[in-house]
Order: sequence, then structure tokens, then C-alpha cells
Amino acid sequence: MLDQLETLYKDAQQSLGSVVNANALETWENKYIGRKGEITNLLRSVGQLPADQRAAFGKRANEIKNDLTALFESRAETIRQHELAQSLEEGGIDVTLPGRSVPMGGIHPSNQTLREIYAIWADMGFQVFRTREVEDDETNFEMLNIPQHHPARDMWDTFHTTTPGVILRTHTSPGQIHSMRKFAPQPIRFVLPGMCYRYEQISTRKEIQFNQVEGIAVGTNIHLSDLKGTITAFAQRIFGADRKVRYRSSYFPFTEPSMEVDVECILCEGKGCSVCSYSGWLEIAGCGMIHPVVLRNGGYDPNVHSGFAFGMGPERITMLKHGIKDIRYFWGNDLRFLEQF
Ligand code: PHE
Repeated sequence: MLDQLETLYKDAQQSLGSVVNANALETWENKYIGRKGEITNLLRSVGQLPADQRAAFGKRANEIKNDLTALFESRAETIRQHELAQSLEEGGIDVTLPGRSVPMGGIHPSNQTLREIYAIWADMGFQVFRTREVEDDETNFEMLNIPQHHPARDMWDTFHTTTPGVILRTHTSPGQIHSMRKFAPQPIRFVLPGMCYRYEQISTRKEIQFNQVEGIAVGTNIHLSDLKGTITAFAQRIFGADRKVRYRSSYFPFTEPSMEVDVECILCEGKGCSVCSYSGWLEIAGCGMIHPVVLRNGGYDPNVHSGFAFGMGPERITMLKHGIKDIRYFWGNDLRFLEQF
């Protein structure tokens, strides 16, 4: 029986060498060291031996069993490592693959232009001041020297609400009244950005909703030359340092004198093209010295204080800079358009 045991030991060691996967390992374990395995069987039959041989046999059998168990465990570990490595190599998870990128939104072209505008005005000491989009007729028109039935109201076709006298602002100019009333009689310098609404036939050049950036400066020593110098500085920063800027006289009820600002066409450099209607100039803003009536409505004494104001359209500026021919792209939410910015 002892011989049998030693042979079994050798067999077990040998066959373990050719075990290469978890299944074969389990078969091996059952065959040799499991509860119904051959070593266990031999140990059970120890009673058949003469009494004086039993102890030695039992001792040897246990040694062999312990040794085979240790071999089994180290083999099991090797196989586990091997199978793990293999499954990583051929499995569904390739940890070296680059991840799927998350699609990122972008900043809307209008907002990009707005940020550029804020930054330039901030350099010149103008803070951003926001006021409401739902206005009353009084602030949107009357306080700005545009009484009921004034023919100039035709310049601003208005969306009314069901509440009489409550409208959507047609321009950012009512912000002049809000900001002056809040700070008079201190000097102020603000840009007042935001959405405006006009009851218009939508076309390539007109939307019913658009941004404006109003500017206002009020103090005790502000002249037309300050207005022209400041707006020229702005125009040359946003359109290019060498751009010519010109002022044409115009009319707004809330400024006197009133002007429109043109820059030399950035696409044809003044030679004349379809964007500038072959004039060589692009209109970028309306402006003027604040009308004494408006200053007074804002809480300033026009004998002491003076100021200038201007209004510009960020969508229009974006269109001019990028040669965009149709304003309807801005709120069309077509990614093929938006992704270009
Ligand atoms: N509010 C005017 C408009 O919408 C623009 C403007 C603003 C003109 C300030 C002069 C001064 O057309």
C-alpha cells in the first residue's frame, strides 16, 4: 500500500504539470486530494494494514496530501493569473481604447460678440448694467422724449401685452432712464445689453427679437468730442485698428444732436461690395448727446450735467465681421451654422 501511495504521489505531481485551465484543475483536485479522491481513499483503508505499519503509513499519506494541496494552490494561482491576463487581452474591455468624447456645446455667436463688446467697454470704464425686457410705455417711449402719437414711434413697431401700457422693450434705451434714476446726480458710465423685440416682418435683415448694447455716460464735462473719440476707439478695437470711422447726422428723439456711426467696410476695405451696398461703409451704431429732457427725466440737471448715449446691435456686428448674409440664422438653432463659431 505504501508503494501504491508513492506511485499515486508521482502520478499526481506529473499530471498537475499538464493542467492548464480551471476545469482540468478541478478534475485533478477531485481525482487526487478531494473528499472522494484517491489519497483520501487510501487513508480510509489504513485499517487493512498490520497495526505496526498504520502510523507510518498515515504520517506519509498526510505529508503527501499536504504537499499536493500546496502544489494545487500554487497551480491554481498561476492559472488564475493566466486566465485574467488572457481575458483582458481578448475580452470586450480594452482598457487602452481612447474614451468616447462627450459632445460639447459652444458659446452662441451673439454671446461671443457680446463678451467681446463688454471687454472693450470695460477697458474704457463702462460697467454692465441690466434692466428689464418687459417695459412700460412710459419708460420705453415717453421718458425718452417720444410722446404718444409722436411720428418717431414708427421707428419702433411694438409688441403689446394684454395689460395696457405694458410692452416688450423695442430698444435698450429705457435702460438709460433706469440707470440715471438709480445713480443721479453721480457721474455714470454703463453698457446696457439685452434682448429687444419689434413687431416686424421677419426678413434677411430683420428679426422680431435681437440684442442691443446701449451705452451711456453722464457727467459734468462730457462733450460731443468725447462721444466721437470713445466710439471711434471702440470701432477700431472691434473691427481693426486702421478702420476709418465716420459720423452722419441723424435723428433720434432722445439725443441732440444725433448721429449714425459707419466704419469702412471690412470685407471690401471701402472699395464697395454687396455687403456694404457698394457704398464702402457699414452702419454700426446710433448715438448722440443725451437730450436735456431725457437728462431731466433721469434726475440730472441739464444745466450742470451732460452725457452721451449710443446703441449698437451685436447680431449686426457679428454679421458684418463674418459676412453672414441672413439674420435668421441666429435663432434658427441650426448646428451647421452654430458650429462654425
Ligand atoms: N435706441 C436707438 C435704436 O434702437 C439707438 C440709439 C441709442 C440711438 C442711443 C441713440 C442713442 O435705434
